[in-house]
Amino acid sequence: MYVLGGLLEAVQSSPVLKVPVTQRCRSAIPRCRVYISRVRRRLFYTDGDGFTLMDMRYHDGSRGDFSEEFGELLTQYASEGESGDGLLASAYEPFVPSDTEQIRSTVHVIRAQAMRFMLPYKFAISEIKTKLVILQEEFRELGTYNPIDTVTTRLKSFESILEKIQRRHFNGTIEQLKAEITDIAGIRVTCSFISDVYTVRDLLVSQDDVTLVQEKDYIEHPKGNGYRSLHLLLQIPVFLSSGPEPTIAEVQIRTKAMDFWASLEHKIYYKYNSDVPQEYLDGLREAAITANELDLKMQQLHRAIRETDA
Ligand code: GTP
Ligand code: MG
Repeated sequence: MYVLGGLLEAVQSSPVLKVPVTQRCRSAIPRCRVYISRVRRRLFYTDGDGFTLMDMRYHDGSRGDFSEEFGELLTQYASEGESGDGLLASAYEPFVPSDTEQIRSTVHVIRAQAMRFMLPYKFAISEIKTKLVILQEEFRELGTYNPIDTVTTRLKSFESILEKIQRRHFNGTIEQLKAEITDIAGIRVTCSFISDVYTVRDLLVSQDDVTLVQEKDYIEHPKGNGYRSLHLLLQIPVFLSSGPEPTIAEVQIRTKAMDFWASLEHKIYYKYNSDVPQEYLDGLREAAITANELDLKMQQLHRAIRETDA
């Protein structure tokens, strides 16, 4: 199946980039046939043969040798950008705008390919979310104990996927890419008690159309930093007009305490750009122990109460 071929190739052969341009600069893009990704703030340019990523960074003075049109874009960046002058952009290939129509159609094709690639993941999220909501409502309607607290989902942005391809120096086919990047469709379930986590796992995995591809139990085996959660890779068929498309989704199931911890850890990790001060690392490890103690205590109370009910 040919999906994304040209784009994948372009991304694989391009250098990794940093583009510190401001939001406002985006307005200049369509006119210059340069495309900037919103999330990663990366610039793509196209000469009609596919997309190429550009390397741009603020620098002192010099501007390199660019086509006039590209220079114009830079001038605009400089006048609109945060730090104004001293903008250096170095494209690995010169930006030579060719036939406008050709460029437009290339952009169109690539957009369509990206969309086609992303759609099954979007649908896989809907399918799994529906499964969870059905269970939740069934428990609610029947007045029986409901192990599912919240369900949240996220579809990885296309920019993040491209970024991951580059970071991992991925060099394979689309099918290999699908097997490699397994967190495009993400579903997170929170539960009240540890036992609920496994109940939800069983409820999903036992369904006929669900295949468990991988299970990582970070509750039994927490990560060094204290992270706890149950990770499942589930494969489900997404029925498109072209037929069923087996699609992988990552499901994270954890207690509310684990989730509370993970969301703070995530924030700290990002704030310090992975270089977290030791005192916070220690604090997080301590908090993870406390969260686990809370989980165990709550589980114990929950069991005791259920036994008295029975
Ligand atoms: P990625 O390449 O990041 O997807 O890691 P992986 O393929 O080795 O998978 P893993 O199961 O370790 O982690 C997948 C996801 O779990 C991450 O994207 C996070 O959402 C979550 N996760 C894993 N480890 C941690 C952690 O230490 N802290 C937090 N907050 N989340 C984590
Ligand atoms: Mg991941």
